[in-house]
Amino acid sequence: MGAAVLERATSQVDRPRAEQDVAAPAVVFDKVSFAFDDNVVLRDVSFSVPTGSMKILLGASGAGKSVVLKLILGLLRPDSGAIHVSGQRIDRMTERELVGMRADIGMLFQENALFDSLTVADNVGYRLSEETEMPRDQVRSRVGQVLGFVGLEQHIDRMPTELSGGERRRVAIARAMAARPNLLLFDDPTSGLDPIIATTVDDEIVKLRDHQHVTSIVVTHQIRDAFYVATHEAVHQDGRLRVVPASATATPTSFMVLHEGRICFEGTAAALLASQDTYLRKFLFMTLPPW
Ligand SMILES: Nc1ncnc2c1ncn2[C@@H]1O[C@H](COP(=O)(O)OP(=O)(O)OP(=O)(O)O)[C@@H](O)[C@H]1O
Ligand SMILES: [Mg+2]
Repeated sequence: MGAAVLERATSQVDRPRAEQDVAAPAVVFDKVSFAFDDNVVLRDVSFSVPTGSMKILLGASGAGKSVVLKLILGLLRPDSGAIHVSGQRIDRMTERELVGMRADIGMLFQENALFDSLTVADNVGYRLSEETEMPRDQVRSRVGQVLGFVGLEQHIDRMPTELSGGERRRVAIARAMAARPNLLLFDDPTSGLDPIIATTVDDEIVKLRDHQHVTSIVVTHQIRDAFYVATHEAVHQDGRLRVVPASATATPTSFMVLHEGRICFEGTAAALLASQDTYLRKFLFMTLPPW
């Protein structure tokens, strides 16, 4: 496993899209049910996330969004149904096999989960140092590179407590992407951030999708951010990677809405906005003007 992570971490993962199109879906849920005792969270949930694409997962508080991400990581196991990650069935894996599978997943937890006693550099490089044989100077260089992506290179030697909430969130994103995982799971990446900083986080997520072709699942309560990410794309302009309104040929991003244990909507941003479903209209339009 270490060698595989090192290989990914040291090579430029910029696979052509054609190659990704023939790959197995990055994530498949097949009739997955899950309950905490008598609290049934998911009922026969099925969906698939094609490799290289982005899925935005919406739903009210307690709908089961974080549970979906924890099932993908194998931190929780379904009561029935099957879960496949990168073509491998993971719900029957041993703990040891799961550790290997997780090496290819970057997770941004809802609560950041930075180690307050470690510097920004040690937080971001944690998995590279702990789980690979990568030499220290290469870890440092990769850490500098990913902090550069999120605009925080100058804070590399600070402690997390010396950063603002938005900066901590961006450090957590840098940490999730440091080992170049092929699958990124973001749990509410922009909650608690002001709209300007939230947009810088959104831009990083868009770049990861369009430039690195990373598969991602973005859980969010921020409808504005969800639509921003879905309707923008990263393109090279004047020698720089910029985030601009998406063209018709951009990688499509699809939405999923969880409600009462089921996926009550799956489709594009435009289809979601146009939906006449009573629950969806209430859910969306409570958060968008005009009220
Ligand atoms: N460790 C746990 N033990 C028991 N019940 C839990 C546990 N974690 C979550 N739950 C319950 O499972 C349901 C789904 O929780 P989950 O955390 O997935 O919600 P969520 O959609 O992520 O909500 P939020 O938007 O507030 O983060 C909720 O009813 C919650 O109370
Ligand atoms: Mg949650």
